[in-house]
Amino acid sequence: MKVLVTGGTGYIGSHTSVELVSQGFDLVIIDNLSNSKIEVLDGIEAITGIRPKFEKLDLCQAEPLDDFFKKNSNIDAIIHFAAYKAVGESVENPIKYYHNNLVSLLNLLEAMRKYQVPFMVFSSSCTVYGEARELPVTENSPVQPAESPYGNTKQIAEEILQEFVNSQDKIHAVALRYFNPIGAHPSSHIGELPIGEPENLVPYITQTGIGLRDQLKIFGNDYETPDGTAVRDYLHVVDLAKAHVATLKRLLNQQNKKPYEVFNLGMGKGVSVLEMIQSFNRVSGKTLNYKVVDRRHGDIEKIWADTSLATKELGWKTESSLDEAMKTAWDWEKQLNKNQS
Ligand code: WQD
Repeated sequence: MKVLVTGGTGYIGSHTSVELVSQGFDLVIIDNLSNSKIEVLDGIEAITGIRPKFEKLDLCQAEPLDDFFKKNSNIDAIIHFAAYKAVGESVENPIKYYHNNLVSLLNLLEAMRKYQVPFMVFSSSCTVYGEARELPVTENSPVQPAESPYGNTKQIAEEILQEFVNSQDKIHAVALRYFNPIGAHPSSHIGELPIGEPENLVPYITQTGIGLRDQLKIFGNDYETPDGTAVRDYLHVVDLAKAHVATLKRLLNQQNKKPYEVFNLGMGKGVSVLEMIQSFNRVSGKTLNYKVVDRRHGDIEKIWADTSLATKELGWKTESSLDEAMKTAWDWEKQLNKNQS
C-alpha cells in the first residue's frame, strides 16, 4: 500500500512515518521544509532501516503538486499533516495561516478528486472545542468559535473536508483531533524540533532543564483548577502516531461506518502545568526553575478528552504514562545538546 504523508518531516508526521514504515507501508513524504529539516529522514532511516521517498513541495503550488500526482499515480491514501500550527503567530499573521492551511488542503482535495485517491486521514486539533462547557469533551461536544486564526483554519478545514467527501462517491476521510502531543521516539533519533523560542510547554521545559533557557514562565496560576495552573490532555507522540496507522487501516479495510468520521486522540486525563513540571523533575532528577507570569492571550483554562470512541472504533488507547512520555522528551533534549548535558 502506497501512502502519501504531507508534512512528513514534521514532529507528528515523522513519528507517524516511522510507525507506517515499521508496519510495511510504502511511503512518499512531501514537505516544503518551512518548519522542519531534511535530516529528519536520516532519523526515520536510523529507526526503520528504510529511507522513505521524499519530494520537497509546497502544497500551495497547484501545478507542481499535479505533476507529483502524475508521477505517483498509485497512491492509496493520504495522511495530511502539512500546516502551520503556532497559535500566537496565527494571531499576528492570520492571512499567512488562512492561505497556507486552506489553499494547501484545497489543492490536495482537488488532486484526490482528479486522481481518485480514495482515503484521507486529516490532522485536526482539540482547539476546535475552544473552552468547553462540559468535560471531558467528546466528538459531539460543540465546536465553539475559534480562539485563534490557527484554530479557525482547523474548523474550516474540517467543514471543507466533510462537504468534499459528501460530494464524492468513492472518497472517505477521518479527522483526528489531537490534544497535546509530547515527547519523542524512545530511540532519540527523532523528536520535536521547535525553531527559535518554543511556543509549547514541554520543549520549553526541557530547554530550561538543559540550560538553553533561564526559566520557564508559567502563564497564569489564577485559573479555576486544583493548583491554579491551566490543564491540558498530554499524550505521547508515539501513541498518537499509532492512532494514525489504526485509522489508515480502518479506511483501507473499509471498516469506517460513515464516509467522514472524527476521533479525539488524548490520554483522557487532565494535567496541570505544575504537574508537568513535577513530572519533569521526577524523570530528570532536576528542580526546574520557573516563575508565574500573566496568562497568555488565547489560552483556555482546561480541556481533556473522552477517548472512548477511538478506543471502541480504532481499538486504540494511549500506552505510555505521562512520566514515560516526559522522559522521552528529556532524553531527546539531551541527545540534541549532547555536548552540554
Ligand atoms: C500548554 C499549557 C500554556 C508554554 C498546543 C498548540 C496548538 C495545538 C494544541 C496542535 C498552556 C502553558 C506553555 C510556556 C506555559 N496543537 N505554557 N508556559 O496552548 O494547549 O496548544 O496544543 O494542533 O497548536 O499550541 O499547548 O504547549 O502551548 O501550552 O505556562 O512557556 O502550558 O499556558 O496552559 P496549547 P502549549
